[in-house]
Amino acid sequence: MTDLDAVVHGASELVVGPAESGRDVETVADGAVAVVDGTVAAVGPTDEVTREYPPANADRAVDAAGRAVLPGFVDPHTHGLFAGDRSDEFAAKLRGTSYQDILAEGGGILRTVRAVRAADEATLLSNLLGHLDTMLAHGTTTVEVKSGYGLDAETELRMLRVIDRADEAHPVDVVPTFMGAHAVPEGRDADDYVEEVVQEQLPAVESQGVAEFCDVFCEEGVFSVAQSRRVLEAGAKAGLTPKVHAEELAHIGGTQLAAEVGATSADHLLHATEADIDALVEAGVTPVLLPGTAFGLGAEYADAQAFLDAGAPVAVATDFNPNCHSHSVGFAMALSCVVMRMTPAEALVAGTRNAALALDRADGRGTLCEGAPGDLLVLDAPTHVHVPYQYGTNVVDTVLTDGRLVAE
Ligand code: NIG
Ligand code: FE
Repeated sequence: MTDLDAVVHGASELVVGPAESGRDVETVADGAVAVVDGTVAAVGPTDEVTREYPPANADRAVDAAGRAVLPGFVDPHTHGLFAGDRSDEFAAKLRGTSYQDILAEGGGILRTVRAVRAADEATLLSNLLGHLDTMLAHGTTTVEVKSGYGLDAETELRMLRVIDRADEAHPVDVVPTFMGAHAVPEGRDADDYVEEVVQEQLPAVESQGVAEFCDVFCEEGVFSVAQSRRVLEAGAKAGLTPKVHAEELAHIGGTQLAAEVGATSADHLLHATEADIDALVEAGVTPVLLPGTAFGLGAEYADAQAFLDAGAPVAVATDFNPNCHSHSVGFAMALSCVVMRMTPAEALVAGTRNAALALDRADGRGTLCEGAPGDLLVLDAPTHVHVPYQYGTNVVDTVLTDGRLVAE
């Protein structure tokens, strides 16, 4: 027996997914979508869809008259599991203290590490579930969450266990990434710590069997290209797909490394060169831009136009973490438009289909094409343009995941 979970009908604009060019969206006016057994079964004009799938027969019928219906947002880069409060660093940064200065003084990531090591599993789980609630209310239906505030085997495993439990307990789909190489722990030598990640942490993560990706902060003063390569190659042997934090604060070659090791994504990319962009496109690595981080640091932004012109499937993410405390993909889309000069359609594709590519999801996620997961949003606005246009406002009204109503 199949189950008609939901029919959403009468949408002023229904966004099916990217158009052929990848730089526009395919839309249906007076559109509808039917979800059967958690999956999109039909999408198109309301009269056609509702003829085959009458709203009266659905577990949930939603009249979307005057409102836009979009695929759920996919957020492919967050450090959403943490403890403690770093709001005072926000104020310090506004007075001119740099992110690196804060880290060098034992603040930043290292401060969050101390707070996470001291937190028990129940506290960490409750923190993450709270953030997932906020993300869901802002339209995120799939989110990647990294470990990396443990920097020892025990705490990294605790973080990954919590990420897994949150995925089980919450309607947002949570994708787990191991990031033992997020920072060099206080008082440790970087090479020595890399060996700990490779010889102690990775085997433990592999036997616990919960992480899907392995990420590394390849950055001047953090992990060199050689150290990053060592971690990512060992991660791949342990079954984890590589991801790279590349060229955020300086240009050191993380993008070329991402291309070389066949990473799923390279992220940040503020200092990526034309040759880097070509290498990513050639290797099929998805660039993930994080304008919220640049916004908070008062830094320059990645050159989104150069990536788009090269034909790269530009993705955008929140980078939600204590240094960039924004849960909202919509806000990242607004910055993508206003600061990086992307069109609202490019920004929407970046935060949906391309973001799904950055997580290796080939199940149609980030679109409402037939066969895709029934993850969708009804806006309190008539078109997708209102997501970036109404910056600072949450225009997401209703959220369904797998065809079930989870937020309104
Ligand atoms: O992507 N760059 C490294 N990781 C995060 C920051 C994490 C933190 O400051 O706690 C980022 O911006
Ligand atoms: Fe990050």
